[in-house]
Amino acid sequence: IARLEDAQVSGKRVLVRVDFNVPMADGKVSDDTRLQSALPTIEWLKDKGARIILLAHFGRPKGKVDASQSLKPVMAPLSERLGAPVRFAGDCIGKQAEKAVGELKDGDVLLLENTRFHAGEEANDAEFAAQLAALGEIYVNDAFSAAHRAHASTEGVARLLPAYAGLALQRELDHVTAALENPERPLLAIVGGAKVSTKIDLLMNLVTKVNRLFVGGAMANTFLAAKGADVGKSLYEPDLLGTAREIIAAAEKSGCQLLLPEDVVVARELKAKAARRVAGLDEIARDEMILDCGPATIDALADSIESAKTLVWNGPLGAFEMAPFDTGTVEAARFAAQRVRERKLVAVAGGGDTVSALNHAGVAGDFTFVSTAGGAFLEWLEGKPLPGIEVLRQMPQTDMDAAS
Ligand code: 3PG
Repeated sequence: IARLEDAQVSGKRVLVRVDFNVPMADGKVSDDTRLQSALPTIEWLKDKGARIILLAHFGRPKGKVDASQSLKPVMAPLSERLGAPVRFAGDCIGKQAEKAVGELKDGDVLLLENTRFHAGEEANDAEFAAQLAALGEIYVNDAFSAAHRAHASTEGVARLLPAYAGLALQRELDHVTAALENPERPLLAIVGGAKVSTKIDLLMNLVTKVNRLFVGGAMANTFLAAKGADVGKSLYEPDLLGTAREIIAAAEKSGCQLLLPEDVVVARELKAKAARRVAGLDEIARDEMILDCGPATIDALADSIESAKTLVWNGPLGAFEMAPFDTGTVEAARFAAQRVRERKLVAVAGGGDTVSALNHAGVAGDFTFVSTAGGAFLEWLEGKPLPGIEVLRQMPQTDMDAAS
């Protein structure tokens, strides 16, 4: 993959695909993690005197202009973080975009309106991609978290211009690739979350790659039920008992040790003050539900973390949004973070609720790497090629890459 550092960008119009699909509340950015991760590339380009044109999507407006899904609210916090003005164009193609691009001077930053206001974006329409490409001379993808989408701004346009991987995307790729493709072993995966159904491919792929896989969260209940436990009124997927057995068999076949909770915390309702108790797997009453892993499970998981050299983590291990049912997630996350601080473990985490779970445990900053990607991180864990990355791999390498 051609790296941004090898691009000759001075005075050039550089289209940069970023992921500004950020959480918003009352029309304001409520979490600017993704804005921050785009800064190194923007600053690098600014220093080199490039004319920076930011391309991004927001929400799912389904190809129609929708003022409530405008990228305009991103301008102010981005400009503040950058310490420089950010211009805005009300459309990502056509006259408005062309005019705004034409006015750019070296080092200026322009944010274009939501690419998904055009149906051509998600359809990866060739004409739409050509209109985007016409605005720039060089393309940089810095949006790992949108790389699982084969859209015009992530895939189509990369075929039409010299295309490079931005600094955040490179960092993300280096970490995730190292963790799963070339890890120091033993390699442990911790997978949690509510449903097996959303993670079948992921589990099937992981059992072929990791030495140990711990399954937690409500999805573990489906596995426990598949092994014959009576899970009371716990959340589980009766239709997926067969799938859970297939995953157990696949793990055995590839020599992956599959770990499940040995004991659990149960309550009659999901309420912070609900009476709760620790139960063995054969002690769950009809009207009780599993809401967290129990202390013996947390100890066993800590042992697995202690003996692992690399950890990949996706998904919470219990109903972590509600204390005290966050105990399993928090303790395991803190233990992993401690091992990273002691330089005994490389720990990579990502996907959906994972970042909020680690933030909640106060240790996201201690992990070796926390991906800002949701769906893209899951597809990567599934072993699927990501179209936004694949297209960069297909690009002819720069002279410098060829020399190295
Ligand atoms: C994300 O937030 O995970 C990415 O920006 C992709 O968004 P999407 O799921 O709407 O394609």
